[in-house]
Amino acid sequence: MTKKILITGVAGFIGSNLAERLIKEGYRVVGVDNLSAGVLEQVPKEVEFHKIDIRSKDIFPVFNGVDVVFHFAAKNCISECQLYPLETADVNIIGTLNVFDASLKAKVDRVIYAESSAIYEGTEIFPTPETNFTPQTFYAITKASNHLFAKAYQQFFGLKTVGMRYLNVYGPRQDYRRVVAPVMSAFIIKFLMGKRPKIFGNGLKRRDFIHVDDINDFHIMCINNEKVINKVFNLGGGKNYSIMEIYKMIQDILKIKIEPEFLPDVPGEAFESLGDITEARKIGWEPKMPLRDGLIGMIDYIKKEITKGNIKSDTVL
Ligand SMILES: NC(=O)c1ccc[n+]([C@@H]2O[C@H](COP(=O)([O-])OP(=O)(O)OC[C@H]3O[C@@H](n4cnc5c(N)ncnc54)[C@H](O)[C@@H]3O)[C@@H](O)[C@H]2O)c1
Repeated sequence: MTKKILITGVAGFIGSNLAERLIKEGYRVVGVDNLSAGVLEQVPKEVEFHKIDIRSKDIFPVFNGVDVVFHFAAKNCISECQLYPLETADVNIIGTLNVFDASLKAKVDRVIYAESSAIYEGTEIFPTPETNFTPQTFYAITKASNHLFAKAYQQFFGLKTVGMRYLNVYGPRQDYRRVVAPVMSAFIIKFLMGKRPKIFGNGLKRRDFIHVDDINDFHIMCINNEKVINKVFNLGGGKNYSIMEIYKMIQDILKIKIEPEFLPDVPGEAFESLGDITEARKIGWEPKMPLRDGLIGMIDYIKKEITKGNIKSDTVL
């Protein structure tokens, strides 16, 4: 019998890409999402979909017979989380504990859950190893709290967990609808609309980008591998780029020359991110997607979204 996998946040960026990949690899997939940010159209039709909030007890029966849980559902737009700390904690902490409880009750084999490299916001160590723990913003604090709760669920209840500290994940279906869209989506959309992209700060901030297909390689490895149990892994590209470098690379691919509009910096954002991926490499994982190829794929996806009418000129700030 093929394994049954449950994904929370299945209608979002990472969840929908993983669902597609798991279906292709022959797994049975159950999905949960309250569609607060996700889009139902992104969920592959083979997925048994349940529109439920992760904070609700209604998720419990959905976990019956599940082998592995991928828990992605979260409130994760950093600037919005800064405005609503209570709601952020409710979804990201209480929601996660409800997912852990449902997983325990259903005796699932393991829960692979999303932390975030935002936990390293305050760090001065680059590349940053998993031992670092310097969250600053409300979002990062909820993800750090997920990490501590996962350890306690391991220790006191024997729940097997795997923590994913993604750096900046990019690729098709990246959520461009947020209050502040992720940088690559925002630039590409503005360029394709013939408008000036906005840069918050001076463009010198450096970010570590990882393609969604690469992190899904690691997710697939985690389904059966015993070496990952009760550990946490950075998943990044192994190098970082300044925002201006990304801007120029996209301009170069599109052969468009438009000057950016510089705006004041977003408070709380780290100047640099660069994950140390030694631990994930020890499992046999390696990021493969060259940044330029990944950007070309993302541009193709955004062009199709514009043609479908899903992106309008006022979709991103
Ligand atoms: N994308 C990145 O670069 C990145 C980096 C680090 C960590 N992460 C983490 O990875 C996970 C997935 O990120 P993503 O980029 O796919 O985000 P996303 O916003 O595209 O997807 C999240 C999904 O969760 C759903 N959701 C939100 N609140 C919910 C609730 N209360 N009940 C049920 N569903 C709910 C949303 O509708 C959405 O479909 C998140 O936990 C995020 O914090 C992402």
